[in-house]
Amino acid sequence: MKEHHNRKPAVFLDRDGTINHDIGILRSENQIRLYDDAVSSLLQLQEHYELFVITNQGGISQGLVTSKEVDRINDAIDQLLRNAGVCITQWYVCPHQRSDNCSCIKPNSYFLELAAEDFGIDISRSYIIGDHPHDVETGADKGVFGLYLMTGHGMKHLREVALAHPVFHHLSHAAQWILDHPGQREDLQRSVTEGARAIAEGKLAAFPTETVYGLGADALDENAAAAIFTAKKRPLHDPLIVHIADIEQAKNLFLETPSAAVALMEAFWPGPLTLVLPKASIVPDIITAGGPTVAVRMPSHPFALQLIRESGRPIAAPSANLFGRTSPTTAAHVKEQLEGSYEVLIDGGACRVGVESTVLSLADGTPRILRPGGITAEQIESVIGPVATNRILETDSAASPGMLPSHYAPRTRFMLTANPGEYADDPDSAIILYEPNEEEFSYKGKVFVLSHEGDLRGAAAMLYSTMRLVDTMGFSKIVAQRFPDFGIGVATNDRMQRAAADFT
Ligand code: TXA
Ligand code: MG
Repeated sequence: MKEHHNRKPAVFLDRDGTINHDIGILRSENQIRLYDDAVSSLLQLQEHYELFVITNQGGISQGLVTSKEVDRINDAIDQLLRNAGVCITQWYVCPHQRSDNCSCIKPNSYFLELAAEDFGIDISRSYIIGDHPHDVETGADKGVFGLYLMTGHGMKHLREVALAHPVFHHLSHAAQWILDHPGQREDLQRSVTEGARAIAEGKLAAFPTETVYGLGADALDENAAAAIFTAKKRPLHDPLIVHIADIEQAKNLFLETPSAAVALMEAFWPGPLTLVLPKASIVPDIITAGGPTVAVRMPSHPFALQLIRESGRPIAAPSANLFGRTSPTTAAHVKEQLEGSYEVLIDGGACRVGVESTVLSLADGTPRILRPGGITAEQIESVIGPVATNRILETDSAASPGMLPSHYAPRTRFMLTANPGEYADDPDSAIILYEPNEEEFSYKGKVFVLSHEGDLRGAAAMLYSTMRLVDTMGFSKIVAQRFPDFGIGVATNDRMQRAAADFT
């Protein structure tokens, strides 16, 4: 056991898409572009961890690049980092393709074992960060904790990453999480257990879901639920969504559960679909704003499910932001606006969906989407047939108060446009594009691209954190490009239109 404590933990990092922008095979030094936060993240990490880079250069075995060229690039990056004070203990290169079945290919732990032998690394207290699903599985069998980045290829492959791995928007967020959780799974486990205890004691716990972070309380405890409204400065006429961990728990909250509801639960739970139905008498009025219906959903984030199970309560939770403001998709966002108003904040990384759940009412005749969200109308219709939708800005606010025109708003003047090129000459604007375009380099303002691969789900997952970031940067206006009006684009356009409503 003594030896265990003398051995050092490490952070293993992928190179392309994690430390430097992934632009395909790098051949010359002047193609190297470090991410803006690479140096500062590595400087912080190296105070407590040995740093290793593992690069998978399958191009070598295909003859597309020589190992000499790869070494030269690695040396150049190493030099860049060294000049900035960052010391990488060792660079490892796997020259193979996945189909080569080599002993070093991801997710094999070959290089991790080399590090353990040659540098006295304790693998079981180590982390690995990468933007490919294989990266974060590497060494999982030896206790290495994998963190996934939504940079590089990270968006395209997000769905392939097991839910147990927290995901992050940027390297700096992953680095901060590592520093905050030196006990890895045990630390996480402890925060979920403390959160569950807080909920059971009638206090508030903020927690991650796959959509946005929630501010939770025991849904059957009126006083606990009242504290949510106070913390958020939320008017009492805006009802809360109740989160449950199994279908039986949902049925207990509804007066009756029609077969269409069961079909939807089976198709989309756990996941970003909220169902509105007449409530059972155990649901307190404060949850439903005095109305006859209750909104219920089963989130898919493993810490949310565990929190609900361990607390033994259905958990009422709105998004963990001040009323009317942009929803939080990281724990840091929650802290910014609500620190001090909850007992526990469970940091489960970034939310993978990044926009709120779809709210679907089955309470009367026609199923109706009250709020578009993570599950699309097309998906719902494939299970229960036609659904009605509320058109934006025509909503009866009493039907679903979250549908108020101005909501989800940043502080900076915010405009939504199909043609961001109209603002090309404005040097003082931040322009948010969901995908790169050909003219963007001629824009005089600063451009933020949500998904370099134009993946709409990935772009949606980055939207709120980008809006929040840009909101702090002092631009005179934010111009956001409309998403295409289908799939997840319906939900993001809805939110951005509401954000813009304050300024039109
Ligand atoms: O993804 C989500 O739904 C997130 C996470 C935390 O689960 N929660 C969330 O909650 O967005 P909140 O409070 O920010 O939005 C809840 C929405 C509001 O638009 C509210 O009016 C609507 O759900 N809602 C709640 N109960 C309702 C009911 N009984 N009838 C109609 N709409 C309801
Ligand atoms: Mg909200």
